Amino acid sequence: MSSPLISPSILSADFAALGQEVRAIDAAGADWVHIDVMDGHFVPNLTIGPNVVKALRPHSQKPFDVHLMIAPADPYLQAFAEAGADLITIHPEAGPHLHRSLQSIRALGKKAGVALNPGTSAEVIAPVLDLVDLVLVMTVNPGFGGQSFLSSQLDKMRTLRRMLDEAGSDAILEVDGGVNSETARLCVQAGATALVAGTAVFSGGPEAYAQNITALKGA
Ligand code: DX5
Ligand code: ZN
Repeated sequence: MSSPLISPSILSADFAALGQEVRAIDAAGADWVHIDVMDGHFVPNLTIGPNVVKALRPHSQKPFDVHLMIAPADPYLQAFAEAGADLITIHPEAGPHLHRSLQSIRALGKKAGVALNPGTSAEVIAPVLDLVDLVLVMTVNPGFGGQSFLSSQLDKMRTLRRMLDEAGSDAILEVDGGVNSETARLCVQAGATALVAGTAVFSGGPEAYAQNITALKGA
């Protein structure tokens, strides 16, 4: 089993020093930068818009993994693409035309992801597998950092692993929510190839980031 990609969620960073925080996780060995976009409507919290993504872009060359928890998402795809997102992940519940939204992300030259809430079944992605570069399994209900990992989602990871393998898809299987060095191991065993972590990366301050990331990678 190769070590998973680590995508620290800047939701747990110091928002008064975001540029510095992005540089710090980059230097500490993060593979990607996970940016949680929330609209206070699809999820009960408000966070970051495309202007912030654009402002952060010069601070790292690592791929920006932008997780859109907004509905509708379609009107904002271009803005996030132009702001510097590399991967754009949407929730199927955010609009009536998942297939079209994924086509739009690909047409913008970006990698397309689908995020599955704990209550959303793996089968949702079956008809769109050819358009999916990343599947994001939510192991908490989206909206907040610092929640507990839902181990009920491990079965879904195994199902998705099987679906991707059977389809010959090399899409990344990413997990988001409550990931720490213990739960990371369960995710990797279930077939995950990328892990989002907010609390587990940012706890202890900048001096701890490298150690925190290494602990997740070694899980
Ligand atoms: C939740 C977000 C997550 C969250 C992860 O809606 O999508 O990315 O910030 O935070 P932790 O790792 O603290 O659960
Ligand atoms: Zn996220």
